[in-house]
Amino acid sequence: MSYRCGDFHLDPANRRFTRQGAAIALEPKTLAVLTQLVSRAGTLVTRDEILDAVWGHRHVTPSALNRRIALARQAFSDDADEPKYIQTVHGAGYRYIGPLELMERQEPTLPGQTLRFEAPLSARLPARVESLIGRKHDLATLTELFRSHRAVTVVGTGGMGKTQCALECARNLAAAFPDGVWFFDLAPMQSGAEWLHALAAALAIPLTDVPELLSKVLPVLQNRRALLLVDNCDRIASEVGELVSRLLRGTDALHVLATSQKPLNFAGEQLMWLPPLALPQDARRGRLEMCDIESAPAVQMLLTRIKSIQPHFNLTAANAPTVAEICRRLDGMPLALELAAARFALLSPEQALQRLDHRFRFLTGDTAGRDPRHRNLLAMLDWSYSLLSSEEQQLLGWLSIFVQGWTIDAANHLAGSLGHDLEKVLEILGGLVSKSLVAVKPGLPAPRYHLLETVREYALERLRASDEETRARAHT
Ligand SMILES: Nc1ncnc2c1ncn2[C@@H]1O[C@H](COP(=O)(O)OP(=O)(O)OP(=O)(O)O)[C@@H](O)[C@H]1O
Ligand SMILES: [Mg+2]
Repeated sequence: MSYRCGDFHLDPANRRFTRQGAAIALEPKTLAVLTQLVSRAGTLVTRDEILDAVWGHRHVTPSALNRRIALARQAFSDDADEPKYIQTVHGAGYRYIGPLELMERQEPTLPGQTLRFEAPLSARLPARVESLIGRKHDLATLTELFRSHRAVTVVGTGGMGKTQCALECARNLAAAFPDGVWFFDLAPMQSGAEWLHALAAALAIPLTDVPELLSKVLPVLQNRRALLLVDNCDRIASEVGELVSRLLRGTDALHVLATSQKPLNFAGEQLMWLPPLALPQDARRGRLEMCDIESAPAVQMLLTRIKSIQPHFNLTAANAPTVAEICRRLDGMPLALELAAARFALLSPEQALQRLDHRFRFLTGDTAGRDPRHRNLLAMLDWSYSLLSSEEQQLLGWLSIFVQGWTIDAANHLAGSLGHDLEKVLEILGGLVSKSLVAVKPGLPAPRYHLLETVREYALERLRASDEETRARAHT
């Protein structure tokens, strides 16, 4: 059902209001107020009735409704003193008095016309191609965080599954965002301004310089219950953080979900560190039951990917410990597991396990549709390494000599020979932690730090390439 009001057409189902076919942008509450009046044309609709219908309660200031009535009048080019559409019944409410014709069927859409406020094709959430393995608990945490925060950043090591988790979370939350989920992949972008341009283009705003563009974007997003998913912010994290902060401050209902290898660092940012996929529970103690192995998300991930190229591959009592060991050696990192699975087309599990010593040459793949930096493990780590300062790169290399992790005292001792005092060591280590390359395990009497095995081997190769290995080892 839609309503023809003279030159105007109100289509509540598609949240569209047009004049002679041209869309007039109305924020959702104004459209809802308008619909209340038009759908009861000729009848007095009291203020309380409107408040109940549109806000769900009466605890809003009178000015909120007055403002929507003024905007609705403006949309009709109506005059409050000599109304042709919306009449004020003083002390009681409002009445729609304009022309009205009920339309049972919707009018065909004209080319180029937007049916409702939603992301255009270029910014639409990609459809799910493969199901997400494991991550039930992480998704629940992420969804829960959105109940109390407007901006959440999923942080973690490259290839850990941040993008996949964020996409799934956004799909699950879509119903809560009537103004759409808007998706932007920032991996190919070089600056925050480039993202702002992409956002403005998606909103059909003509491009100008950043400050002017922001002042045009904000009113369009004001009051919109939309979710912006800004994916792979890594290289431009702080610029994006600045923009997100301004978007949040300038709008009432906008939400942002970001993924990045390091925090975006803005006030109000809620971080969620994404852990690896869980390994079989007793893997580290060497007492593996078949059911523990089978049910572990990391194993499920490896098996699912193996089966996609070898449908007859089965987990058996004989191969299960080897499969579990492969998952452990790859730290439950989804990208590494995915790349390892591709090798099962040629090798037995035992052979695949042996080849992990050469993981950077071994773990490559060329699956169509895969992000270029995910085609091999080396490319992915090169990307993460490029996010580090030269001091962080150097310390990471030196830290790779600790096979079992280290404490702050050990790091301090090591870094002393690089000329760093404790404050400096804390600063650099903090940088490595926030860029998801060093993991912290709280413990007594002091936390311990460690590198994922894949990161450690990569860093060790870098250390060797810089000829500093002997110097570093002399200090342990
Ligand atoms: N839970 C999962 N189930 C199935 N596949 C997964 C899962 N997590 C990640 N993957 C796969 O692992 C690969 C890496 O995942 P993803 O791109 O989400 O990582 P990322 O943390 O965003 O990496 P980067 O930091 O490089 O952007 C992808 O090919 C993805 O399909
Ligand atoms: Mg990603």
